[in-house]
Amino acid sequence: MSTTESTNVLVIGSGIAGCAAALSAARNGDNVALVTKATHADETSTGWAQGGIATTRHDADQFKQDIIDASDNTADPNAVDILVNEAPSVIEDVLIETLDVPFDKENDEFAYGQEAAHSTRRILHVGASTGKHILRPFFEYLQNHQSVRIYDDSTALELITEHDTVHGAIVEDSNTSRVIFAGNTILATGGIGTLYPYSTNPSAATGDGIGMASLAGAQTADMAFVQFHPTAYAADDPDELFLISEAVRGEGAVLRNGNDVRFMPDYHVDAELAPRDVVARAVSSERSQTGTVYLDVSSFDFESTFPDLAAKCEQHDVDIDAGIPVAPAQHFLCGGVVVDTHGRTTVDGLYAVGECARTGVHGANRLASTGLLEGLVWGVRAGNDAAGKSATAVETPDVTTIDPQLPDQFTDAKFKRIQQIMGRSAGITRTRDDLQNAQAELRRIKGEIDAYARTRTSRSLYELRNAAVTALLITQAASETDSVGCHQLVESADPAPQM
Ligand code: SIN
Repeated sequence: MSTTESTNVLVIGSGIAGCAAALSAARNGDNVALVTKATHADETSTGWAQGGIATTRHDADQFKQDIIDASDNTADPNAVDILVNEAPSVIEDVLIETLDVPFDKENDEFAYGQEAAHSTRRILHVGASTGKHILRPFFEYLQNHQSVRIYDDSTALELITEHDTVHGAIVEDSNTSRVIFAGNTILATGGIGTLYPYSTNPSAATGDGIGMASLAGAQTADMAFVQFHPTAYAADDPDELFLISEAVRGEGAVLRNGNDVRFMPDYHVDAELAPRDVVARAVSSERSQTGTVYLDVSSFDFESTFPDLAAKCEQHDVDIDAGIPVAPAQHFLCGGVVVDTHGRTTVDGLYAVGECARTGVHGANRLASTGLLEGLVWGVRAGNDAAGKSATAVETPDVTTIDPQLPDQFTDAKFKRIQQIMGRSAGITRTRDDLQNAQAELRRIKGEIDAYARTRTSRSLYELRNAAVTALLITQAASETDSVGCHQLVESADPAPQM
């Protein structure tokens, strides 16, 4: 079945940025269509977020400085100003007054958490499961909003463009193909974790917004800056991997190597609370040298401070008293689709917010717990800016009707290959040779995908195409960028660990 619909604003993606954009457009009186691959709030990166959302207390200048320092002095000061200045009011309005998120309190005051590279406690959190306590009520609020229509379990396959302007998207669920014309379209598709063998992201993080925007002619930037979280549970099986929040180090956990030696003081004056890129490289190096790294949580009561993480450790048979084995895993993309202070991309009618966007806030390395905040602030800004425009019906691209015969083996095999390529060539350390070879192979893979896409369509094929385009952008940017922040080039002779 196929349908044609029109809306003022089309939002693609339902993490905090997409929900915030939908909310603010709807508050302007617009009709909003929210398309999401998820069937439940917990299936998004926001739903998986642990540590929390940083906010400005009485320390805007210091918060700004912490962000810029963590970014290796590459963050855009104007974008950071917007973030720190708007944080308190937007958190109060959306998260507290509208959604009543139950942030942890002590004696009726917020119990602000500490994370790495923050010079003070400023993280609002709900245990170490903050994301789901934000997103579940957010999703429910929008489901009940009369101006918002949610299409879940639905994938945007292609943006509809005419004369360099985006007019909506072709969207597909298991039995319907929809043309949704929109006055403005907002991409909020999240991250890129599925491009890597080991990631803290849900499997839906296939770089969709970046792939679609780039194919529509939008600029991207800072694509070399893939952030690796230093402390994922060191599982051999990627499906067993889970994040151990930086908040655990904030409460005093220390990292020890295979010789039982605490090593972070040798790497950085702030030891375990150094910027994330520094800690990730140190953990990777110590694992290579001594075989293992573990998080020693014996200095405080881990079970009562982080009951949700303690429960996860128990589910995975991790003996907390012996230390939690950890390894770096892909976590966040600091770059993405270039946007201005209102989330506008370089293509008319197209906005991007959240992890798929590059606002300039993160530069070459993101400060902990600023991802949710950026998504919220830019989501609200983009929704406001995008509101008030009617859709125009234009000619639509010819997307072949759903073909159930598409061989899953093709997409599965190519995804695995992309993961191998990215793990080898675009991990914590990179060599120019590996990056060049990776680009050549990714181009071949992209050609094969394009050939399939001429005759068939399926969610996995379009996800694969987006993943291939995004992987190409990352490897290309990495080969053209000098080492800074989370992008580190090494000599060809150095071994590059598989990430
Ligand atoms: C964490 O809880 O360590 C992740 C927080 C973040 O990525 O900002």
